Amino acid sequence: MTPDTAVTILPPLRPDEVRHGAAVLQTVRDAIGTHGGWLAFDDYLRIVLYAPGLGYYSAGSVKFGRGGDFVTAPELSGLFGRCVARQCAEILQLAGGDVLELGAGTGALAASVLAALYELEALPRHYYILEVSADLRARQEQRFASLPQALRARLRWLDALPAAPMAGVILANEVADALPFKRFTVTSDTPLEGGVALSAEGALIEAERPADALLAAEVAQLAASLPEPLPPGYRSELCPMLQPWIAALGAALSRGAALLIDYGLGRREYYHPQRGQGTLRCHFRHRAHDNALLNPGLQDITAWVDFTRVAEAAVDAQLEVGGFCTQAAFLLANGIESDLAASAASAASAAGAATEQARLASEARVLLLPGEMGESFKVMALTRGLAAPLRGFAYQDLRRSL
Ligand SMILES: C[S@@+](CC[C@H](N)C(=O)[O-])C[C@H]1O[C@@H](n2cnc3c(N)ncnc32)[C@H](O)[C@@H]1O
Repeated sequence: MTPDTAVTILPPLRPDEVRHGAAVLQTVRDAIGTHGGWLAFDDYLRIVLYAPGLGYYSAGSVKFGRGGDFVTAPELSGLFGRCVARQCAEILQLAGGDVLELGAGTGALAASVLAALYELEALPRHYYILEVSADLRARQEQRFASLPQALRARLRWLDALPAAPMAGVILANEVADALPFKRFTVTSDTPLEGGVALSAEGALIEAERPADALLAAEVAQLAASLPEPLPPGYRSELCPMLQPWIAALGAALSRGAALLIDYGLGRREYYHPQRGQGTLRCHFRHRAHDNALLNPGLQDITAWVDFTRVAEAAVDAQLEVGGFCTQAAFLLANGIESDLAASAASAASAAGAATEQARLASEARVLLLPGEMGESFKVMALTRGLAAPLRGFAYQDLRRSL
């Protein structure tokens, strides 16, 4: 996701947001009470992002697009989905099967991938969606109502990963960064775990506790795998949910590839000594900031993805890391330039097409430029049983950075 502007002053809340925020805050306060006065940060995220009817992803806020809090690549431009579709078509040709999209948001990626697969004559029998948010699932259903029947007929929603492993493609754009994560601070002794407590006035405050044995072992293992020690005071995040999540994806895939697209880094860069305050980001009406306790339930809270952790979990799940590159390299290898050239050609011949061409060119810049989404976003393919290398990774191989 990308904020349009980076300013520190947040816009005021509307009255309905004030009411909703108060209900979420009360739920967090209650949870802090039942947990003995302190809530681990990942448990805080489970409430403020996913509590049914309350959490950011589970209640009715706009979230995506110009009227929301952030823009994701498929929301920004259909070019993204067209390129992803070319990669899907290749995998479907190699492995057969279906497409399963995780966390489909408003359904923008599904709509553009289906339309492009139709053009490529590579439609799968089914395009499954697994969405944990009932609110977003309802918005997806609404959006797909206007799709042609030939595409709509392919769509199916799942409540869980398929029990019988499927062949084909699993897609997850900006899902790994939305999984609840833990915060830690390195000390000269046991690391501290970040969490949330209440001030004497009942406000949410950040509070740290000595990490339990499990988190302490995770941090020790992480530190031991880095070229330089993490200095005392170093603060960052880690996502224990990644491993079971990838294991579940591995169990769900008999043949084909999972394509994970997210902002993130290999471990050495992620936990670089200079990145001493971590990667946590909050998004509220196109403002990005790092105060996760502000406006609970009304803002998105994410952290970058440690792609080395993803790759390790994939290997444990007997998947291969079939490719890892920047979003820019992936889109270029999947023909974004040919889409732009085609729009330039039609601009030369048809009235009105010049405006369309200018719009596409500006969207492509955001998708591709290093200072926008081009470099911070990476694409990783986790494959099983594929005979050939994937086209999307032909221009760049960053696997050595893992
Ligand atoms: C940042 S949004 C991205 C939405 C969409 N993929 C896009 O790019 O516009 C994160 C999405 O992941 C979903 N999500 C979070 N955890 C999930 C999980 N374990 N399985 C499936 N979806 C999940 C959220 O409900 C939301 O739809």
